[in-house]
Amino acid sequence: MNRTVLVWMALAALAGCKKKDEQANNTPAGSDVVGSAAPKMVEQTKGSAEAPPAPAADPKLIERGAYVAKAGACVICHTAIGPTGPDLEHAFAGGLEMPDPMGTWRTPNITQDKGTGIGTWTDEQIIASIREGVRPDGSGLYAIMPYMNYNRMTDDDAKALVAFLRTIKPVERTIAPNKDLKMPKGPGPKPANAPDDAGDQLKHGEYMATLMLCSHCHWTPNMKTFAPAGPDKMFSGGLPLTVPMLGKGTIFTANITSDPETGIGKYTEDQIFTTIKTMVKPDGKQIRGPMQFMQGTWSQLDDKDLHAVAAYIKKLPPVKNKVPASDFVANAGPPPGAPPPAGSPAAGSAAK
Ligand code: HEC
Ligand code: HEC
Repeated sequence: MNRTVLVWMALAALAGCKKKDEQANNTPAGSDVVGSAAPKMVEQTKGSAEAPPAPAADPKLIERGAYVAKAGACVICHTAIGPTGPDLEHAFAGGLEMPDPMGTWRTPNITQDKGTGIGTWTDEQIIASIREGVRPDGSGLYAIMPYMNYNRMTDDDAKALVAFLRTIKPVERTIAPNKDLKMPKGPGPKPANAPDDAGDQLKHGEYMATLMLCSHCHWTPNMKTFAPAGPDKMFSGGLPLTVPMLGKGTIFTANITSDPETGIGKYTEDQIFTTIKTMVKPDGKQIRGPMQFMQGTWSQLDDKDLHAVAAYIKKLPPVKNKVPASDFVANAGPPPGAPPPAGSPAAGSAAK
């Protein structure tokens, strides 16, 4: 089996990719780090020496927090990927290292370990790091940590997320800090706490799409300043990314605005839904590169939420931006996820 498939399968297991009713009896290794088993973990840690200082939170709150964590794909970045796939034993313990055109970055340990994780941070400090990109000591986080997106998170969801993070088993692991990255740093703006209007599909879609990081990857950079080329360029694509564990070369993010020629204006709302749900595009080709990683947790989200995201993306104003052709070549073997559809590039494909 090739590495891409292994990485994908492991991530799927990590995210608990089984149907909900199967999960109770047949829990894949590591899956209890996210979601349904979280309340159980709280019980296990209750009263033990490692127990977090706060009293065990309401299971409903933890469940919502786990869901927010899946939308935000925290575990995908904050878990190391070794030669045989993600280090499931140490989920959230950081150490994923990614060479990026803006500098090689690695993720910190966000488990509850008191020495090497965030176990001593207060709820407010954790929330500030996630939504404003600022550590308790006042230093700013590099914007690869998507605090500019999580800035949109409501106070309620931020509190739920922290309740979930408190259930994560402490792992002692020291991660070297990031240095000299060519990207902006926090602190970002104070969160507006604008509501998540669940009754309005478009507004709810905007909320979910923001937490799901579409604009964290799909923006158009000014390659001199490494800042967005403009406020209207958050979805018009062209960010260059390298992902050695998936393939060689550079992959540019797509223009996902409604421009019919350079964007995805010809996709129906249902086709956008299917693309983010299955990672297969309307032309039958597999999405390549880092967006594949997201499926590990996105496949756990409610279809209603994914439909709302699709509705919102469909309505993005058109921005003309022809994204450069990617020279990315996926590692040999079938693409990850579902069996490759007829006519799809089984082994590495060139630019689209
Ligand atoms: C795209 C990858 C990525 C995703 C997704 C991501 N993070 Fe991070 N996170 C990082 C990186 C990289 C840093 C370190 C930034 C730096 O060194 O300045 C970081 C830093 C942090 C920190 C500060 C830890 C410390 O010791 O400084 C916390 C807390 C955190 N992330 C929590 C989260 C949570 C919770 C989520 C999901 C809602 C999340 N992250 C999603 C990449 C990511
Ligand atoms: C980690 C980075 C990343 C994130 C997050 C991400 N994408 Fe992508 N996306 C990409 C890359 C890279 C491509 C190009 C894939 C290729 O060329 O095969 C892509 C391709 C696509 C495509 C196919 C476009 C086409 O031309 O056919 C769609 C649609 C899409 N993304 C939508 C989304 C939506 C909606 C979200 C948020 C819910 C999202 N993406 C989040 C990196 C990302």
